[in-house]
Amino acid sequence: MKTLRFACIVGARPNFMKMAPLLRALEPYPNVEAVLVHTGQHYDKNLSDVFFDQLQMRRPDVSLEVGSGSHAVQTARVIERFEAVLVEAAAEGRPFDRVVVVGDVNSTMATTLAAAKLHVPVAHVEAGLRSFDRTMPEEINRIVTDAIADLLLVSEPDGMENLRREGHAEEQLRLVGNVMIDTLRFMLPKARQCGTLVELGVAAGQYAVVTLHRPANVDSPETLGPLLDVLVDVSERLPVVFPIHPRTLERIKRFGLAEKMKAAKGMIQTDPLGYLEFLALTSQAKVIVTDSGGLQEESTVLDIPCLTARPNTERPITVTQGTSTLVGNDAPLLRSLLEEVLNETYKRGTCPELWDGHAAERIAQSLVEAPNPYSSRSA
Ligand code: UD1
Repeated sequence: MKTLRFACIVGARPNFMKMAPLLRALEPYPNVEAVLVHTGQHYDKNLSDVFFDQLQMRRPDVSLEVGSGSHAVQTARVIERFEAVLVEAAAEGRPFDRVVVVGDVNSTMATTLAAAKLHVPVAHVEAGLRSFDRTMPEEINRIVTDAIADLLLVSEPDGMENLRREGHAEEQLRLVGNVMIDTLRFMLPKARQCGTLVELGVAAGQYAVVTLHRPANVDSPETLGPLLDVLVDVSERLPVVFPIHPRTLERIKRFGLAEKMKAAKGMIQTDPLGYLEFLALTSQAKVIVTDSGGLQEESTVLDIPCLTARPNTERPITVTQGTSTLVGNDAPLLRSLLEEVLNETYKRGTCPELWDGHAAERIAQSLVEAPNPYSSRSA
């Protein structure tokens, strides 16, 4: 039986929880060799190493160590360094049969570009999500990746519709469900045993969790200031746990907002947390305020109200299922919805289909069965 060599790509924090279950699901296939490639887009211990440990993921086989930079610089470095990996593998007589990318970060798009140009097939896990907001770097990454990947593995029906509208052939598409939820369901019992709540001094169901890192929210004081004002006010009645992304921490300091945050007694600031600690926290929160895409999905499964600090979402299913409400950066709306949560009048939602903890198995099967579009064309 021919061995299938897959290059499985991770780069930034939200990639790790999507790749971990997939590597596990590929293990039972004796003819698959999965090579784990880390681009190094995220390199801090808190944004990278801790996930390998907690998700029981083996260390990368290949590290590209691209680090931070402008979008162009970071993307270019990944393309250049990953192309070299693909070329070297082919020269050694062990070419990759497929590149597997997840999510929508710069590393996802860059590795897809390098592979497609060398006629290496690409599978995109979490294909088809669209915010229809091209000011978001992730939206550009999604559009480009889906346009040139040949196998599109989709988490929800909206994604299938988007890809059909963009003209993708039906045989490229697979509705496989949400692989990040596989990790959540697998890890939840372990997360619940973490002493995180005790360490932070909060009680189950009696605190809010906040994450903010998108440039649209944190890069200007006019936007970040009013959002933090609401959170500081709410923290007087409901403790607010705020694990702060490096970008946001830098902006808070630069805009002179650090003192106000520090003075608020109920505002509990932490470094970015590990997967287990963060899941312990989110799964027992009263409410989540976030601009993260993944957290909108996780809160959906955890049945915790999610107030999404974005004007739009590439995950509209969380809104139609009623598990997340878009508040943009409208501070008064955020204030009034937090009031509803505190008064227990906020309406709850339900979990979508195929977010069942078995997406990785469906993805693994699709990967193993997928034809190589380049060889069939030349045949
Ligand atoms: C990236 C993703 C975003 C994802 C987020 C999760 C893109 C376009 N964005 O955004 O979709 O939601 O990861 O965290 O790919 N930094 C560190 N240590 C690190 C990495 C970054 O301090 O390990 C700092 C650097 O100053 C860097 C900044 O954070 O310039 C931004 O990092 P970058 O990877 O460019 O984007 P994120 O904002 O993290």
